Amino acid sequence: MAESSDKFLTRPPLVDSFGRVHSNLRISVTDRCNIRCFYCMPESNVQFLPRTELLTFEELTRFVSVVASCGVNKLRLTGGEPLVRSNLSELVGQLAKIDGIQDIALTTNGLLLADYAQPLFDAGLHRLNVSLDGLSEATFQKISRRSGLDKVLAGIDKAIEMGFQKIRLNAVSIAGITEPEIIPLARFARAKKLELRFIEFMPLDADKSWASDQVLSGEKIKAMIESEIGSLVPAERLDKSQPSMDFDFADGNGRIGFINPISQPFCSDCNRIRITAEGKFRNCLFSTSEWDLRKILREGGTDADIEAAVRDSIGQKKATHGIDSDAFVRPEKAMFQIGG
Ligand code: 5AD
Ligand code: SF4
Repeated sequence: MAESSDKFLTRPPLVDSFGRVHSNLRISVTDRCNIRCFYCMPESNVQFLPRTELLTFEELTRFVSVVASCGVNKLRLTGGEPLVRSNLSELVGQLAKIDGIQDIALTTNGLLLADYAQPLFDAGLHRLNVSLDGLSEATFQKISRRSGLDKVLAGIDKAIEMGFQKIRLNAVSIAGITEPEIIPLARFARAKKLELRFIEFMPLDADKSWASDQVLSGEKIKAMIESEIGSLVPAERLDKSQPSMDFDFADGNGRIGFINPISQPFCSDCNRIRITAEGKFRNCLFSTSEWDLRKILREGGTDADIEAAVRDSIGQKKATHGIDSDAFVRPEKAMFQIGG
């Protein structure tokens, strides 16, 4: 990984009008995916971006160099499914060399992980989040509308074997689907010594059928785990911008996190910015405006032009997503088009 020190912060930090400093960039590398989870994508006839519209690795690397000079030090690659983008490990290698970048992580559905864990690890990727909404093939198919849980589990085993620094399991919490999966998932994560996080279902499904009664709250899940497995004690909060509330099992054997964007919004400490696969910059997962960075990158824009667009966007970031307010407007794009 490139050397990390404040000396690379050659430009002022990216501070919004609420004083939040942005150091965490999520990069979507593709909108394509090899499954069709209902909370993210339509079931069929998906309109994907033509490949020429995706930012190239060179364009992404240039963009990241500019924001790194303004204090961005943490990157996460998302999609769609990032592992369907060809040669992703080459991009990881290029990003790892950028001055100031201290941490590169990946969020994957795990289907191709057994194939790519080795080159990704060798390129400098040391943290992984794998989506795992349940441990039964029936639940996997109900959610993803495809088959393949066995491949995901093989991918997780391969990643464990490689010695990744941290592997987290992410489960989206959906009322009526997730309940029977909670205890098996918690036991699985404990046995494999992996951290498990439950993420409340957010209104970013392509079908626009989300309703608040489909959200299974983190509180309810926590109560179920405590009554079936054992008590959970709050873990020390080392990074106040982390979205999850983490708990350790009192017996010292495992950690469970809860990301509760619906029941307990955490926007006040948000440090995240995003770029979509086609190079649109977003100041929030739920933002309804985007800044066209690809245009700047492809039409001869200078580094100062890139920085100005990023600062303009961050300057307009709202205090919170406001999902619980009557004025809430869903983004036009669904999760697969934004980046998870
Ligand atoms: N609500 C909550 N989490 C979601 N994810 C995708 N769509 C949603 C949604 N509507 C999660 C996936 C994965 C990451 C990419 O985002 O499970 O962990
Ligand atoms: Fe940040 Fe927007 Fe998510 Fe809130 S909803 S935590 S502001 S990205």
